[in-house]
Amino acid sequence: MKRLLSGIQPSGELHVGNYLGAIRNWVALQDEYEALYCVVDLHAMTVKYDPAAMSDRTHDMAATLLACGIDPEKSTLFVQSHLTEHSELAWILNCVTPMGELYRMTQFKDKSARNQQNINVGLFTYPVLQAADILLYQAAAVPVGEDQVQHVELTREIARKFNGRFGKVFTEPKALLTKTGRIRGLDGQAKMSKSLNNQIPLLADEEAIAKLLRPAFTDPARLRRTDPGNPEVCNIFPLHHGFSPDADVKRVDEECRKAEIGCVECKRLLGRNISDSLAPVRERYESMGRDHVRDVLSQGAERARKIASATIEKVREKAGLLGRKGAK
Ligand code: AMP
Ligand code: TRP
Repeated sequence: MKRLLSGIQPSGELHVGNYLGAIRNWVALQDEYEALYCVVDLHAMTVKYDPAAMSDRTHDMAATLLACGIDPEKSTLFVQSHLTEHSELAWILNCVTPMGELYRMTQFKDKSARNQQNINVGLFTYPVLQAADILLYQAAAVPVGEDQVQHVELTREIARKFNGRFGKVFTEPKALLTKTGRIRGLDGQAKMSKSLNNQIPLLADEEAIAKLLRPAFTDPARLRRTDPGNPEVCNIFPLHHGFSPDADVKRVDEECRKAEIGCVECKRLLGRNISDSLAPVRERYESMGRDHVRDVLSQGAERARKIASATIEKVREKAGLLGRKGAK
């Protein structure tokens, strides 16, 4: 089986956009690939964060991923900072990465524009740490959304630079684009995102979902109940695609165009379908013991370390560093 790696920051509760755009895909890919999934806490340090909340957030992200169906029997789930190899390789890769390439990164430009008071070096070399995450495991595939393609391309370039200068160590990874496009937020203005507060939290119950959906932006052509609409331009129709059974998707699609179903009924149906689809995730999350999560993460780190330390030894040797006494 080919190897795959992806990462997610422990930056708070997941929403249904993350689920449809990333996590659901991660769950499906575990059967086709040898998958490694990493909670990237070191990446989360590149913006201002509350140190008192970090460890719980990391733990909750791991618990949520398990609740969503990441199966520790199939995949390796671990925390980035539990392996020092990630920061070690990131440093070494920093030394073959041109600054000019990092200045081009869209995410760096966006984040530094938004955090003018905290443009730290970590934010700048963030993509190099991401390259280290991927290259340490010689991952062939990296499932990501559109916004991360640039980082995967850079990873390929860093791999080429290192291989060219020191001799071949790294496999060049390929981005595996998630088919679901960006899920828009309930305000219809931008992508669903926690920072824009336009999200449906993944663990929200049916009542909370209904309350969030009620004022959600829909097709602006449907001012009155009798105005026909167009699901293709409707802000929330993609959520029906994500969560509703085919029969409901078809019904909403047809009846919206003929003004036979109103937005109120459409949203009621959607709310129930989201809640029903995610009920098992909520239940698994509620009953997930802290010790279980810690056990999974420690076994994950152990498995990951076997691969990572072998790569690091090769890298050290090729780069000409003096071997540690006792090391192979
Ligand atoms: P973020 O929360 O932005 O760090 O994203 C975590 C993962 O969820 C990434 O793989 C994103 O591509 C994906 N994601 C985030 N927001 C959305 C969205 N609105 N629609 C689809 N995928 C998303
Ligand atoms: N930068 C990615 C994001 O913001 C998260 C990430 C870190 C990642 N390391 C990774 C994704 C390695 C894929 C592979 O979503």
